[in-house]
Amino acid sequence: METTLRSAAQKRNLKIGCAVATHLLDDPEYARILGAEFNLIEPENDLKFGPVHPEKDQYNFAPVERQIAFAQSHNQEVRGHTLTWHNQNAPWIEGKSPDELNQILKDHIFTVMHHFKGQIKEWDVVNEAINDEAQIRKSIWYNEPGIGLADQNYEYIAQSFRWAHEADPDAKLFYNDYNIEKISSKSDRTYEMLKQLLSEGVPIYGIGFQCHFVLGSDFDEAFETFQSNIQRFKSLGLEIQFTELDIRMTEPQPGDFERQAEAYKKTIELALEEGVTLIQLWGFSDRHSWIPYTFKSEGWALPWDENFKMKPAYHAILAALQGDN
Ligand code: G3I
Repeated sequence: METTLRSAAQKRNLKIGCAVATHLLDDPEYARILGAEFNLIEPENDLKFGPVHPEKDQYNFAPVERQIAFAQSHNQEVRGHTLTWHNQNAPWIEGKSPDELNQILKDHIFTVMHHFKGQIKEWDVVNEAINDEAQIRKSIWYNEPGIGLADQNYEYIAQSFRWAHEADPDAKLFYNDYNIEKISSKSDRTYEMLKQLLSEGVPIYGIGFQCHFVLGSDFDEAFETFQSNIQRFKSLGLEIQFTELDIRMTEPQPGDFERQAEAYKKTIELALEEGVTLIQLWGFSDRHSWIPYTFKSEGWALPWDENFKMKPAYHAILAALQGDN
């Protein structure tokens, strides 16, 4: 049998995932690679509040159901992203009172998790609740106007996890965030928050490090403290996942793809060393990536190029998963 990321990961009992925009499943070549190379998929947008719950009494489950059907026919798991987030919410929730928002978020979490119970067993419950200044991020769910727990520190986060646990007691519940890989004021705050919530018995199973890296000094600096940072979160008893890995650059110069491959290799090796249970890419090819839309002159972040050709990064990930030096 041909060796793939998936077969190499499987041997280590490791999940190798990919974020998926549902319409891409129409492309047979995309679908072939996705099915062959990954043992887990995650809807990139379709489970966010706005896409999945566009009107008060209307849920749009069809795209995610399509992903689940794809996953089942390829013997893959499906991971859920995300329930409580400041972004991509639906316009119909604007202008509601805290009491109304409390009921809306609760109903949302219960309805979505019940619908996919048994099919989606891991969820990013709360996403990106700490801002770049290491403060609790202002949001419609926290304090603008919030669900009635505004300025009560982490209470709205605790409430989200408690609802999620009640909705599906078997699901593994994660806190997920970006720019928390290195030791910094943001990861310090995240650590303090999770430590406190866990000490209060809040049902948090694990933490997702998104791992959106920039090739060069950003990556190098993150790596100086990434391992010790992972270890302190592990010491809280949390499972660790890398949930949105990509390593972007500006217009590639000679040697950049080799440097990128090296950075991927280091990331995978660290994951293996620290017992990370999921390594998930935020898409697999440079043809479809969120990056050029957000960072104008950046991209080239994934292991397959825009023609679905494997880059050095692919071979480096595979070698790392196989334990080759
Ligand atoms: O689907 C609509 C389409 O109907 C419309 O015509 C078009 C016009 O702008 O927009 C389409 O929606 C876009 C959606 O992606 C689907 O392509 C949104 O505008 C766009 O904002 C949205 O971007 C997503 C972004 O989250 C939103 O914040 C990216 O695809 C997605 O990759 C990105 O993912 C986030 C994670 O959820 C959390 N961590 C960071 C990560 C990268 O930003």
